Amino acid sequence: VEFDTINILDMINAYGEEDVRKRISEFSCPINPEIEHFVFENAVEFAKKKMSITHFAINSKGKIVALFTLTHKSIEIGNRDFSKSKIRKLSRYAAINTETEGYRTSAFLIAQFGKNYAVEDGRSISGNELMELTFEILKKVQHEVGGGIVYLECEDKPELLGFYQNEHNGFIRFGERYSEEDNKKYIQLFNFL
Ligand SMILES: CC(C)(COP(=O)(O)OP(=O)(O)OC[C@H]1O[C@@H](n2cnc3c(N)ncnc32)[C@H](O)[C@@H]1OP(=O)(O)O)[C@@H](O)C(=O)NCCC(=O)NCCS
Repeated sequence: VEFDTINILDMINAYGEEDVRKRISEFSCPINPEIEHFVFENAVEFAKKKMSITHFAINSKGKIVALFTLTHKSIEIGNRDFSKSKIRKLSRYAAINTETEGYRTSAFLIAQFGKNYAVEDGRSISGNELMELTFEILKKVQHEVGGGIVYLECEDKPELLGFYQNEHNGFIRFGERYSEEDNKKYIQLFNFL
């Protein structure tokens, strides 16, 4: 891949918070205002408090072309008709909740994921490439601490569901969550690292 990733905390250490905030202010994602709101209002604060860490994909000119935000959380994957091999793998990382028959596990969460639509110079990144960069980071974390499940929540839109479940990305639907806060339904998808 022709893009590098940089951790927001490393970026702050290297260039200072003011410079990072300035670079962030050039981020634009009109198709998903929630991501914009997160990067402008929360990304720096949440990283400093270690609540979630944002990573930027940058091009050869050092411009931010996309971002993803990672953290981890406990989830329950309802017992659905997954293949035998998926069940076997799930059982490796999860424990059955005897009351609900679901799989309880802690998982890495891709809390934000999106491209910077303000980038014009050079070729922009594809969603699939951004997912590869995300998995690169997650595999480094896995190498250090173990764990094997990653999940995310996305709006109930065919474009997004198609993207995450495509052959390259391979996420699997396992549930949904209604957010009172956003007044929106989110579809939950997981994958193995
Ligand atoms: C999700 C994403 C990384 C996928 O990248 P990609 O595979 O390179 O695909 P594209 O950006 O070309 O998008 C594919 C199609 O989905 C549509 N799409 C992407 N995000 C969308 C969204 N949030 N809502 C509605 N449609 C969306 C695009 O408009 C495009 O439609 P088109 O083919 O008719 O032009 C990228 O579309 C993106 O950054 N979207 C905005 C941020 C976002 O919504 N992230 C998901 C949060 S769960």
